[in-house]
Amino acid sequence: MRPIDRFLTLAGSHVAAAVTGPARIPGQRVAALLAAPPEPSEPAPPRRLPVCRFLDAACAEMQPDLASAFRALEPDLSWKTRAMTNGGPGFAEGHASARVLDPNGLEQRGGLVSGFSLVAPGVTYPEHDHPPEEIYLVLSGGEWWKAGGAWHAPGPGGIVHNPPGILHAMRGTSVPLLAIWFLLPT
Ligand SMILES: [Fe+2]
Repeated sequence: MRPIDRFLTLAGSHVAAAVTGPARIPGQRVAALLAAPPEPSEPAPPRRLPVCRFLDAACAEMQPDLASAFRALEPDLSWKTRAMTNGGPGFAEGHASARVLDPNGLEQRGGLVSGFSLVAPGVTYPEHDHPPEEIYLVLSGGEWWKAGGAWHAPGPGGIVHNPPGILHAMRGTSVPLLAIWFLLPT
C-alpha cells in the first residue's frame, strides 16, 4: 500500500470515529471524500525546513498507528511557511505546512483540500479565517481557539471543527502542535 493510502485511510477512520456534535456531519463527509479515487496533481518537490526538527517530538505524542503511517509519508512532503501579517514572535521560523490533497499537493481526492500544519513549542499560529468549512484531526499536543470559545487542548486524535468563515488560531505549548486539516468543498 502506498504511504499516502495508508495514512489517509487511517486518518479517515480516526475522523469518522471521533466526530460528534456539530462536527459529525462534516467529519463524516471528510471520511467519505477521503475514500474517493485519487486524481493526479502537480506536487512540489519534497522539502524540509528547520522547524521540522520538532516532528520527532510530535510523533512521540501521536497515536502509534498514525505515527508510523505519518513517518512513512513524511519524506514525500514539501514543507512551506506562510507569510501572515499578524504573526507574533517566532512565527516565521516556528511553523510550516505541507499540502497533501491539493492541485499542488501529493494528489487530489473528491475536491477536499488538505495539509499538515506544524507549530513549534511556544509559537502561535495567528487568527485567520477562510470560507470553506474545516475539520482538523489533531495528531499531537497543542491548543486551539475559535471565536466565541476558549483555548483548549483536544489532544492526540481529537477533532477541531471550524464552521465557514469563523476566526480561529492554534499554538504549540511545551510540545509541538501537529495536525492534518481538511477544507470541505462547497
Ligand atoms: Fe484554518
